[in-house]
Amino acid sequence: MTNRERVVVIANREPYAHEWGAGGKVVVQRPASGLVTGIEPALRACGGLWIAYGGGSADRVHSDRLGRVAVPPEAPEYTLRRLWIEEDEYERYYSGFANEGLWPLCHIAHTQPSFRMADWLSYQAVNETFARAAVEEATSGGLLLIQDYHFALVPRLMREQAPHVVTSLFWHIPWPNSEMIGICPWKGTLLAGMLGADILGFHTRQYCLNFLDSVRRFLECRVDYDEMSVSYGGHRTLVRPYPISVEWPYPAAGRGEGALLRRSLGISADAHVSVGVDRADYTKGLLERVQAVEQLLEDTPSLAGRYVFVQLASPTRTRIRRYQQLADDLQEAVDRVNERFGTETWKPIVLQMRTFAPEDVRRYYAMANSALVTPLHDGMNLVAKEYVAACEDGDGALVLSEFAGAAKELDGALLVNPYDTQQVAQMILRAIRMPLAERRARMQEMREQIATHSIYDWSEKLLSDMRDVRERNSRYWPAVAVPRSASGFLGAPRAATGTSPRSSEEPRSSEERVAAR
Ligand code: F6P
Repeated sequence: MTNRERVVVIANREPYAHEWGAGGKVVVQRPASGLVTGIEPALRACGGLWIAYGGGSADRVHSDRLGRVAVPPEAPEYTLRRLWIEEDEYERYYSGFANEGLWPLCHIAHTQPSFRMADWLSYQAVNETFARAAVEEATSGGLLLIQDYHFALVPRLMREQAPHVVTSLFWHIPWPNSEMIGICPWKGTLLAGMLGADILGFHTRQYCLNFLDSVRRFLECRVDYDEMSVSYGGHRTLVRPYPISVEWPYPAAGRGEGALLRRSLGISADAHVSVGVDRADYTKGLLERVQAVEQLLEDTPSLAGRYVFVQLASPTRTRIRRYQQLADDLQEAVDRVNERFGTETWKPIVLQMRTFAPEDVRRYYAMANSALVTPLHDGMNLVAKEYVAACEDGDGALVLSEFAGAAKELDGALLVNPYDTQQVAQMILRAIRMPLAERRARMQEMREQIATHSIYDWSEKLLSDMRDVRERNSRYWPAVAVPRSASGFLGAPRAATGTSPRSSEEPRSSEERVAAR
């Protein structure tokens, strides 16, 4: 890392949130996110900065005038800069455009995306707010790591205002085929926004290829499939797979802790326990999973009293109706199965709908004999990797959806189509009956994969590719300071976002061409 290198991260979620607890005490909460684990080492090494939405109820009290606070709170090594966003604006940006628009657009899970102009305007405004903070914080030649679908427009804003900052945008969710992208009324501006980045990262090569097809279809740009790059408006963006992962070694809970938990849940010591750990999201295939367990119990009556499926489902995005509906449907489905098969002493499905701390989740992994990770569509799915990483004695089986990015890497998993109830039921049975030697061999193969491709490898590879870009740029560009108070989006009216003045040769998106007719 060079002296002048400064690493700045933009992510919607903050790595530490201050919340008011009981009796007026403030507690610090960490999100259950591998991202923090992967990126913190780089920030710590250079005293970097993380820009996030200040969503904690006590965040303001624990930040300075500029929203800054030194973190980790117990031993500060880098800075968290919190941005304050007015509640309605945040709702339109986060629940609206990001999670009712882009989320269902990118996940093939048959929930119709909603695109509302007011949400789009707020999405633009919030992207401007984050980009403005990044321009203030970034240094020429520094590295800016933008996280996720909340910030598709930030790369272009940075290119216009701070072109000497090397930027990457990592898209944590799938990128679907171009027909799907065609649904978004503002796809041209969105894609052009993303192409402001030097590097665009996705979990898999297939998502990269889908992205290249999308820009070729909707923008006037040059796509190089050999190099995996896009040239648009005189700027080249590399489009690369960076499969995200979990920490290694993983801080697993011991089997003893698992046994204690099993006892506290009233599950017999010799029952086979499958565990599911998810946000209560309609993309996770939770209803389909319950149906598969129902099928299993119907097909194999001998499992009565000897099999339990434990599902942890943390409430998420609860202001969105589709999520409220899913939570209700899930509870109803679980009640139905328990009613149908349960006895006085045995409940086949244990559903726990609340938020779990990471150390609690690890106890559930330690209790389980197998894990069911069957999303309808998922960018990667870190639960699959966490379960494998937690399985230190190699004694476990993973039933995994073929539509999760993790399926491309975890060869030892039992792959299923989550829509195929019979198949999932059969695979759960296979996991239950799998001989120990086979369980160990499969688990060993998956553990080796994660040991050599951890979250640290993910962030190191991305940072090293960004440094290569900087090195290449430095051969062409003289070192100049980052402009901090230029025109453009800084102080410009909101409608100017993404449509700033361009040169006559600059390409136009198809939506702009249509609008110009
Ligand atoms: O999977 C995409 C993602 O944004 C993750 O990066 C994140 O951990 C998860 O969704 C949680 O989303 P939210 O911040 O909306 O709770």
